[in-house]
Amino acid sequence: MTDASRQSAAEPPAGHSAFKSKVIALDGPAASGKGTLARRLARAYRFAYLDTGVLYRGVAWSMMRDAADPADADAAARYARDFDIDRIDDKLVRTREVGAAASRVAAIPAVRAALLDYQRAYAARPPGGLEGAVLDGRDIGTVVCPDACVKFFVTASPETRAHRRWLELRCDRPDLGEDEVLRDLKERDARDAARADAPMKPAVDAELLDTTHLSIDAVEAAARRIIDDIFRRCV
Ligand code: CDP
Repeated sequence: MTDASRQSAAEPPAGHSAFKSKVIALDGPAASGKGTLARRLARAYRFAYLDTGVLYRGVAWSMMRDAADPADADAAARYARDFDIDRIDDKLVRTREVGAAASRVAAIPAVRAALLDYQRAYAARPPGGLEGAVLDGRDIGTVVCPDACVKFFVTASPETRAHRRWLELRCDRPDLGEDEVLRDLKERDARDAARADAPMKPAVDAELLDTTHLSIDAVEAAARRIIDDIFRRCV
């Protein structure tokens, strides 16, 4: 894939410690605004950005392309182990069908295990030798990067999230109703929160950001105040 979901990989500079990178972890339910916030924060702090949802979407999409069953745990684990992010077309994986299948494969522990090293390596040694990385997903602050210096759990009301996602999807799907999108999101959130392995939940030390009534500029400003304060005190 070639877009901003994942910046190009490069070796870290000599002497760069695997544990010194600054990590900003953003978790939260579907369409809560964490992706937009993550991109803005990465730009503001000149950090790398990894949208970890693309990994799960990519595995699900590859299985759908091959008419494999996303509920087949052995097959899903094989696809996850063979996964190559550079072969994923960002646009193709953004559909609601792929989102639903992604949350099914994401509940399979062997799939999560196969994708963990890539995410941790990205966070520890951000591509391009950058000083830090922003990762967004469901389990970044709890499982992937429990030592991240900054953690946010980004939420919004289900109706607000459904409206935002409907606005994104309606160009390609003019027939799609907002109520269908709301149903999809609620199903996916319930599955993501209920799974036994790395369920979606705020880390105990995460800052909660409710974006329901906030513009994206206001969300970014609030997040940057918190980050600047944390970086001043502890980095
Ligand atoms: O963009 P949106 O918030 O709708 O979803 P996404 O971040 O692209 O994630 C798609 C699905 O992948 C989620 O519903 C989760 O089931 C799964 N996922 C996960 O389990 N863990 C992550 N770190 C990221 C995504």
